[in-house]
Amino acid sequence: MARVLVAVTGGVAAIKVPHLLRLLRAQGHEVRVLASRRALEFVTPLSLAVAAGGEVATEEAWFRPDGRALHIELARWAEVVLVAPATVDALARAALGLADDLLGATLLAGAPRVAWAPAMNEAMWLAPQTQAHAERLKALGHALFGPAYGPLAALGEGEGWGRMLEPEELVERLNAFLTPKDLEGLRLLVSAGPTREYLDPVRFLSNPSSGRMGYAVAEAARDRGAQVFLVSGPTALPDPWGVEVVRVESALEMRRAILDRYPWAEAVVMAAAVADYRPAEVSREKEPKGEAEKVVRLVPNPDILQELGERKEGRVLVGFAMETGEGLERAKEKLRRKNLDLIALNWVNREGVGFASLENEVVLLARDGRVWELPRMRKRQVADRILDAVKEFWKA
Ligand code: C5P
Repeated sequence: MARVLVAVTGGVAAIKVPHLLRLLRAQGHEVRVLASRRALEFVTPLSLAVAAGGEVATEEAWFRPDGRALHIELARWAEVVLVAPATVDALARAALGLADDLLGATLLAGAPRVAWAPAMNEAMWLAPQTQAHAERLKALGHALFGPAYGPLAALGEGEGWGRMLEPEELVERLNAFLTPKDLEGLRLLVSAGPTREYLDPVRFLSNPSSGRMGYAVAEAARDRGAQVFLVSGPTALPDPWGVEVVRVESALEMRRAILDRYPWAEAVVMAAAVADYRPAEVSREKEPKGEAEKVVRLVPNPDILQELGERKEGRVLVGFAMETGEGLERAKEKLRRKNLDLIALNWVNREGVGFASLENEVVLLARDGRVWELPRMRKRQVADRILDAVKEFWKA
């Protein structure tokens, strides 16, 4: 958690900042807020102060009667500055190092890490001057979050590049920005979600996997600097930003997509709940309803992970095992048989964990015999523990 200075400049998206401040505080960040004169034409100091839980730093309050100068104080206090919304003018001034307003002076006075959430008209964003300023800021180590494509605020503008990212996504981006990049350079292939094995064009066999565990691994690895490729079965989850995603349905499609990317990967986390069987015959037409009993003949699907294990060549391989009983011995046997480095064992029938839930209770078994019994925790935390182990094997 960090001390975050949110700097608001004059754009319509400033009305979203109180919500952003609340989300940051709910995540445990400490916040202070700085508002430009123009920002206060869009959002009131009071609504910012209430959401931030403290006074707003404004141009008028820059130099205090007691001699304190806010730009020095804020630059020392902040661990990160998030400028949201960032106008074209604010970007340009920071790129040039101008310091005749409170934000400019704070940035120059030694604010350590800076992230920008641009919000402007598309033409202004794409103007070569703005792009050059954005490049300059990136070269200084600043981060740019967005802008996104979508409806723009100015009348008659329609859609375009220039929308500020939504507060929820800004918080995600900021957390990623603050995460140490200990997996920089790792090329990680992740699978997630269920597969669908079709009987006819509308009926299929599947399972209740939500994809959350695999997506959590993909997102955590991205935040830690890895390049991530996600092969996802059908899920209700949106594509994570900063991750290349391929969507598939059946186990055979998943196998194809994974094998295609396997030569690229240095590590694979196979979190998908791949169906073990598929119907032997798939009807091209929808099967009509009938009175008679029906028998469906199933044939086994290839075990993708086992195939990867047979062609491992120095890669780190992680599997999941979902068991109903104790399952420890069976998981160990799978780890050996599939030639894995790590297997994450979880239980189907425990309340509040596993399929579709936000939490998981996992035992990690490593190929060298080490066992970590993790307490119940959020899937994102489980993902980080798995990645800690991946890192060890990757570096070894
Ligand atoms: O043998 P079992 O299905 O329990 O193994 C689970 C692990 O193997 C998971 O990591 C799963 O993604 C993977 N798997 C696979 N292909 C299959 C079945 C499971 O890659 N056909």
